[in-house]
Amino acid sequence: MSEQSGLIPNHPGMPGVRWPRNDYSRVPYQLYHDPDVYRLEQERIFKGPTWSYVGLEVEIPNPGDFITTFIGETPIILSRGEDNSVYAVVNRCGHRGSIVRRENYGNAKEHICIYHRWCFALDGKLMGVPFERGLKGKGGMDKDFDKSEHGLRKLRVESFSGVLFATFSDATESLADYLGPVFQGHFTRLFAKPVRVLGYQRQRIYGNWKFYMENQRDTYHGSLLHEFQAVFGLSRVTQEGGNKMDVHHRHNLTWARSKTDDDKEFAELYKENKVHEEQLKLEDPEIIKNKREFEDGITLAICGIFPNATVHQISNSLAVRQLRMTGPGEFELYWTLFGYVDDSEEMTNHRLLQANMVGPAGLISMEDGEAIELAHKATGSDQDAYSVIEMGGHGAIPDFIDHRVNDTPCRGFWAYYSQLMGCEPEGAVR
Ligand code: FES
Ligand SMILES: [Fe+2]
Repeated sequence: MSEQSGLIPNHPGMPGVRWPRNDYSRVPYQLYHDPDVYRLEQERIFKGPTWSYVGLEVEIPNPGDFITTFIGETPIILSRGEDNSVYAVVNRCGHRGSIVRRENYGNAKEHICIYHRWCFALDGKLMGVPFERGLKGKGGMDKDFDKSEHGLRKLRVESFSGVLFATFSDATESLADYLGPVFQGHFTRLFAKPVRVLGYQRQRIYGNWKFYMENQRDTYHGSLLHEFQAVFGLSRVTQEGGNKMDVHHRHNLTWARSKTDDDKEFAELYKENKVHEEQLKLEDPEIIKNKREFEDGITLAICGIFPNATVHQISNSLAVRQLRMTGPGEFELYWTLFGYVDDSEEMTNHRLLQANMVGPAGLISMEDGEAIELAHKATGSDQDAYSVIEMGGHGAIPDFIDHRVNDTPCRGFWAYYSQLMGCEPEGAVR
């Protein structure tokens, strides 16, 4: 494998990308900063042949219920129709482009834009235009104005285990096929019972969204950046664990079982690597307690679904994190925290306590945000330089890994990303 595979001609509109290697073990910083790359991502990834997470069915249980959400940077309204079907439409008025729904959620028979009060059905059809025929024979729209051409753009929507995804593309495979057997299995495990939303959190991170997609696939950092997780046994490479990916390597599941390692071995190994902070103590250990609820005994499952979602189980904290971006250097994570309808009050309180441990103001995701901002700040000035993704080796990407000393799923992300973007290196090894 050569260090320089050269400038490969890309699809039209894609800036040239100089991949130092053909197996995605080196990633040029240009890809995180170039505004042309960012614009193309919106077209080829978020409006391309992918399924993006948009919400949970339980958020819109009744006819007329809606939530507002995003796919990439595009605003979306997700509504439950009178016939119980779910509609996803672009939240941008067919008149002059205003946001139609500004609320986070609600219940309505139609969506009315406040600017000139154009009225849209829940499925996006344009129903009414004030003064369409003018007044007393004067003004109004021209006779050839066709309302059917100016509705809210409608997307395909599918649900798997109550989790809703939407796509702009007619060519995208079914959601079940897109997830593949491993992730169907994981969703079936996590959403086996009716869920209940416990609340939302929002986290603004000043960095490129792909640093986050890597972060969620990077099992290597979990016990190094997050000293808290290592010290209190939530996540250590010494535990049983590994990674599972789909055949395209676009999604990743990092999993682990706590209390499967030896505390003494852990202490020695991590001390060598400057992690074990003996002074870290908990006044109330309740926050780290795992109340066993899954038969497989897995206590950590971080599931990254390409391109915009992470579904996590960290001990008893359960959440979907949706990525919403506003530019190449800024994104928001929108956290939907959930539990199950049959949880006891004690379990609900425990999940909420652990939400504070994991969330943006807690001890885990705050650190991810900081790490991403550090990387974003230092890489923009030298876009020909590149990052190294080689923990776990290079070359062909395996579907299953039975240890956690790796960041291989990050290479999987880049392999699929590059296929969609049309910027694969010559002789790409995936
Ligand atoms: S912009 Fe929406 S009605 Fe005019
Ligand atoms: Fe992390």
